[in-house]
Amino acid sequence: MSTEDFTVTPWSVEGDIDYDKLIQKFGTEKISEQVLSRVEKITGELHPMLKLGYFFSHRDFDKILTEYERGNKFYLYTGRGPSGSIHMGHLLPWIFTKYLQEKFDVNLIFQITDDEKFLYNDDRTLQDVSKYTTENICDIIAVGFDPKKTKILIDTKDIKRIYPISLEIAKRITFSTVKAVFGFQNSTNIGMVGFPPIQAAPCFLPSVIEGRPTPVLIPAAIDQDPYWRVTRDIAEKIGFPKPTQIHSKFLPGLGMQGKMSSSIPETAIFTTDTEEAIDKKISNTFTGGQPTVDLQRKLGANFNICPVFWYLRYFFDTEKESDERARKCRAGELLCGECKCNLKDATKPFIADFKKKREKAKNEIDKFMFD
Ligand code: TRP
Repeated sequence: MSTEDFTVTPWSVEGDIDYDKLIQKFGTEKISEQVLSRVEKITGELHPMLKLGYFFSHRDFDKILTEYERGNKFYLYTGRGPSGSIHMGHLLPWIFTKYLQEKFDVNLIFQITDDEKFLYNDDRTLQDVSKYTTENICDIIAVGFDPKKTKILIDTKDIKRIYPISLEIAKRITFSTVKAVFGFQNSTNIGMVGFPPIQAAPCFLPSVIEGRPTPVLIPAAIDQDPYWRVTRDIAEKIGFPKPTQIHSKFLPGLGMQGKMSSSIPETAIFTTDTEEAIDKKISNTFTGGQPTVDLQRKLGANFNICPVFWYLRYFFDTEKESDERARKCRAGELLCGECKCNLKDATKPFIADFKKKREKAKNEIDKFMFD
């Protein structure tokens, strides 16, 4: 019997997530101070997303660091299911991935699971998905990955690159395993049932490309962990190193509990939003505030549950600024209107700049494709 009031699966994230419990449930490890100081030693600075615990959990990240210290470079692997437009919640792990690419000077494989998004939704056509594939790739490129060190792999187009590997994987995973791990039912279409090896395959592609066992580090939100669990179980049986992971939390949506979601557009700030839309969404958002100004002055507010606070913390505030904001919020010295204004003032130029990069990216797609 489960008493939890949250769910986290690759296709659904709901409720008020207790991340410590999730670590226990998934059997991952919390990122320790010791691991953080090793990263700091190598990179010279600790990225705020590590320092502030946005990336909070891992599988064998320490081993990747050990290999790296021995001169054995890893590949990064991450991905995107093109089911809609890109919002700020999607950007966080990608911005972090770019930082890893830069600091460790490593190659990246970016998988686009257009097949997954077609199979998952009954009403979606391949054309719908293909439109988002192109759009999303512009967002990915706009994040600033190094074209010489980054390949974007589109499943339906580049399947030949991963098909042989995915067969090796598929042959070693039973229906009862994926049923248990992913919750597939008898009514699940068999495309979905057969999909996990396709997302697993890029974990081993670097070894194939390099012609020798090559470690892989996957930065991803923790909802993707079930894939890596099954992949790690079979990796060594087929002669590849177990893929390692570093897991992020979810950026809260504006307006309610749960992650920012494309399916509830008013809770997400998209990379294509107008200034008016940004103003309106932030004005209307839920906060951790009290019902009246008087009460807020008297009782203080709750920054912990406040999306405005977390956006500012992860994207725009320095650690010091953010800590001070938290203190003032709790003490009733800060009203929600002020934080909303700060967030609007920071978000609008950020998105305006991103839009420019996104336009430019339209002419750069070929540089990132497999031949
Ligand atoms: N399944 C992911 C999604 O729905 C996309 C994805 C594919 C991915 N490979 C990945 C995400 C590797 C993180 C890491 O968005």
